[in-house]
Amino acid sequence: MKIFIDSAKVSEIEEAFSSGFLDGVTTNPSLLKVAVDELTARGEEIDLAQYIERILTVAEGTPVSLEVTEYTYERMVEQAKRIYERFNPVANNVYIKIPINPVFNGAEADEFDGLKAIKELSAENIPVNCTLIFTPEQALLAAKAGAAFVSPFAGRIDDYIRSQNDIQFKKEDYFPAQGIWRDEQVLEDNGVVSGIDLVEQIVEVFLRYDMTAEVLAASLRNARQAREAALAGADIATLPLYVIKDLVSHYKTREGMEKFIGDVLPEYVELTK
Ligand code: G3P
Repeated sequence: MKIFIDSAKVSEIEEAFSSGFLDGVTTNPSLLKVAVDELTARGEEIDLAQYIERILTVAEGTPVSLEVTEYTYERMVEQAKRIYERFNPVANNVYIKIPINPVFNGAEADEFDGLKAIKELSAENIPVNCTLIFTPEQALLAAKAGAAFVSPFAGRIDDYIRSQNDIQFKKEDYFPAQGIWRDEQVLEDNGVVSGIDLVEQIVEVFLRYDMTAEVLAASLRNARQAREAALAGADIATLPLYVIKDLVSHYKTREGMEKFIGDVLPEYVELTK
C-alpha cells in the first residue's frame, strides 16, 4: 500500500518526505486554508503560486492532488485545465481532485457534473482523483468515468454513523472496522458499517470488474485504521502527519530503546567508532 501525506503544509510535507518512504500528497481547500492561515497568523507573506510550486517540488516524482473549487461541469473542467497547465510543468506530478457529485445547498450544479468532468479530463490525459466518495456505487461510477484515484472518506463515514446514533467522539478516536453493535444490530449507513468497510467494499467491486482505478483510502485518523485500510486492500492511504508518525510508534519500542541504550557497553561503542 502506498502512503500519501494528507496536508497542504510545506513544513509537514517536507518532514514526511524526509522519511524516504512517502508516495504522494493530497490536499483539499480546507487543508490549504489551514496551511495559509497558519503562516498568515505568523505574519508571513505568502505568494500562493510559489507556495504550491514548493509542494510540487518537494513531492517531485510522486502525485500531488490539487482540488477544484468550482462546482459546475464546465467551470470545473475549465478550472482543472488552468490548474493543470499552470502547475503540472513544475514537477509533472499534478492530479486534479474532482468531487463525485458537486451538488450542495445553494449550488446550481447537476448530479452528473462530477462524472462528466472526470470523463472529459481523463480523456485528455489529465489524471483525476475523485473525492468525497461515501458509497461503493459512487466509487464504481468514478472509476467507470476514468478516475485514476477514487477516494473514500473513511473517517467521515465513521463520524456520520456516530453522530446519527448520538455517540460522542473525538475525531481521532478509533472506530471498529466491523462496526458498532447496539441491541444486536450493527449501526450502519445504507449497508456500510464503517469507513474501513466502505474501503473494503470498493476494493471488492474494483477487483470483481478489473477496474484500473486505485482505491485511495482518505480521512484516516489513526494508525490502526491505516493498518485496516491495508488489510482491506486499499492501494493508497493518505494520512495526516501525526498518523504517519503513529505508524512507527509503540510503547514497547520506546521502552526497548531506553533499556538498550541504558545497557550500552562503553567498549562496544569504542570498538564501533
Ligand atoms: O483527504 C481527505 C481528508 O483531508 C479528509 O480528512 O479528517 O477532514 O475527514 P478529514
